[in-house]
Amino acid sequence: MAATLLLASCGDKSGKSVVIYYSQTGTTETVAKAIAEDLGIDMIKVVLKEDYPLDFNQTIEICQKQMQAGILPELGDMKVDLGKYDTIYLGYPIWFGTIALPMKSFLTKYNLAGKKVVPFCTYGTGGRFDSVRDLKALCPDAVILNSLGVRQNNAPKARSLVAAFLANDPTAVATFGEKLPVEEGSKAMEVFQAAMADFNRFPLTPETYSVQDQDPEQWVFNCASTMGFGGEASPVAVYVCVPEDGDAPFIVGVER
Ligand SMILES: Cc1cc2nc3c(=O)[nH]c(=O)nc-3n(C[C@H](O)[C@H](O)[C@H](O)COP(=O)(O)O)c2cc1C
Repeated sequence: MAATLLLASCGDKSGKSVVIYYSQTGTTETVAKAIAEDLGIDMIKVVLKEDYPLDFNQTIEICQKQMQAGILPELGDMKVDLGKYDTIYLGYPIWFGTIALPMKSFLTKYNLAGKKVVPFCTYGTGGRFDSVRDLKALCPDAVILNSLGVRQNNAPKARSLVAAFLANDPTAVATFGEKLPVEEGSKAMEVFQAAMADFNRFPLTPETYSVQDQDPEQWVFNCASTMGFGGEASPVAVYVCVPEDGDAPFIVGVER
């Protein structure tokens, strides 16, 4: 029922919704395509006057210079008539913990006031929630709805992750159930350890967890403080998708 209402309200055939995304290396584009195809809507790519090199370190270096100088990359030849749309699926990679600079350029030029915005992003480890916070600050008059985050190495699962996200109402704000302790030998510990098999960069100790009631289920594990790259210890939240079909749980994102 929710899905039917959603399709009707997001206007898959009405031309009122659109996917607008930036992607440097194709990961966000995979998710963008999955959304556009699932909903039968157009997609628009944010293009730059001068692309970043595909080399990761060079991109980092250029971005750092731009950020220090307080400049954003210039948009290429693109004209978007936002008046045609009321709902925008807005996709970007996470760069430096938040919205990638090219999408910031887009948001600086185009005003999303009054639009419903469903953010989606891809990342190495996480950054969805900080990026949505920043998006709200950048677009104070847009209605920012529920967001989708896909870890880069889950991109091959983009279609099913997108289908599950869209089947739930993205207009509903995600809520998690009661926080419960993660005990040795419990199902929660099993789920956490299975998911962590794919992510062993930091030793994490889960203390509590809660379950988000959606399909597929998403669990959030609240872990004890650890050192991050920046050298400061802080608590870590690990979001784990628990598929119903018996597939192994996998990490959706990590936030600190
Ligand atoms: C300049 C730059 C900064 C990045 N910063 C982060 C980061 O802070 N956190 C993270 O999880 N991933 C980070 N990444 C990884 C990208 O978010 C990830 O590879 C993303 O899926 C790329 O999407 P794309 O293929 O659509 O460009 C960064 C990548 C680049 C190029």
